[in-house]
Amino acid sequence: MSQQDILPAIEGGTPVFPEPLFVLPEFTEEEIKTVVNVLKSGELTLAAKGKYTKIFEKAFAEFIGSKYAIAVMNGTAALHVALRAIGVKPGDEVITTPFTFVATASSIVHQNAIPVFADIDRKTFNIDPASVEDRITEKTKAVIAVHIAGHPAEMDDLMKIGEEHNLIIVEDAAQAIGAEYRGRKVGSIGSIATFSLYLSKNITTGEGGMVTTDSEEYWRKAQLIRHHGQTRSYHYEEIGYNYRMTELQAALGYVQLKRINQLNERRREIVKIYNEVLEGEEALILPISKPYVKHVWHIYNILLKLEKLRVNRDRIVQALKMENIPISTAYPSVLYLEPAFQRMEGHGNGCPWSCPFYGKKISYFKGLCPNAEWVSERVFTLLTMPSITDEQAVKIAEAVRKVVRYYKVA
Ligand SMILES: Cc1ncc(COP(=O)(O)O)c(C=O)c1O
Repeated sequence: MSQQDILPAIEGGTPVFPEPLFVLPEFTEEEIKTVVNVLKSGELTLAAKGKYTKIFEKAFAEFIGSKYAIAVMNGTAALHVALRAIGVKPGDEVITTPFTFVATASSIVHQNAIPVFADIDRKTFNIDPASVEDRITEKTKAVIAVHIAGHPAEMDDLMKIGEEHNLIIVEDAAQAIGAEYRGRKVGSIGSIATFSLYLSKNITTGEGGMVTTDSEEYWRKAQLIRHHGQTRSYHYEEIGYNYRMTELQAALGYVQLKRINQLNERRREIVKIYNEVLEGEEALILPISKPYVKHVWHIYNILLKLEKLRVNRDRIVQALKMENIPISTAYPSVLYLEPAFQRMEGHGNGCPWSCPFYGKKISYFKGLCPNAEWVSERVFTLLTMPSITDEQAVKIAEAVRKVVRYYKVA
């Protein structure tokens, strides 16, 4: 191995990939043909004779093991629909994790409710049930548990807390299509659940989302909210939205769902390669999978042992980018320290935080969730898109190994 191969590209060495490696989803001929046929038919929406939204919903509900599924335009809309369907109201508190994509918490604000952040587990990065219990007040209405990176949250403990305190447990399964907790698919455990079908997700319709539930009441409500609160032509029962999924998305999702197990298996194979190459690296903590879950590895989050490194996480990520590998940081900060939450401007006039229905004061400060802050300071993310080849996966992991070894303290 030459000096050039040991030296990170950012320090003048040769990058592992000569050009940036972009990884995108790949579609089968059947998927492409089905979408083209929908285009040819002209029936592009559920509102105009479309059939795919309905059959996709039915197939998705069957796959998850829930009674109902409601297709929507993205995972953020799915969260909004779910919170509205369960009756989250202005001034309610909803407990969630700060170590998640922003939509988990902003959807609470969309309902004029207050996000209350509970801490996470340092190993799975999922919400810590003990911290949830700690945050419960007379205002708490619901908890949103996120199955982060595809690893299921501790649903047994969370459901027990829900029962004891009369709280509704919502699953944000955006990153966890097909994941299982003690033999049950996530999305079928809480009272209502949401999924994202965004480009990087375990199945994708480009943009897309799904709500699942066993409750007929929530299902009816969710359908109304998705479609302007309309019960029949030009008759509106309540204020709703246009959150419908297009038939093009639904057709793609319907056909692709048939190979979800295969796609998740491919992600596991890529993770196996990352584990093999990186196992034993002194400056890294590799992600784990609890023995009673089926992890679907939406992403692969590595922690840096900063005390063993001469540089911080941001420098490592910058160096990895220069190796031209696909990399990101999910997530570089806890949500409550982001300006959108610090400023508490919300919808204007400080709503919902200063809403008279709330009548309380909450503050988001450094130290609120120490474990989440600890994780967000040292995490970085490798992608697990099924289109990554074995050879690319080896090279991606080797790039990580090269960079962390170079910056290790002597
Ligand atoms: C945990 C989580 N919740 C919600 C969302 C929102 O989904 P979408 O991007 O489809 O709106 C995402 C998407 O990245 C997510 O990862």
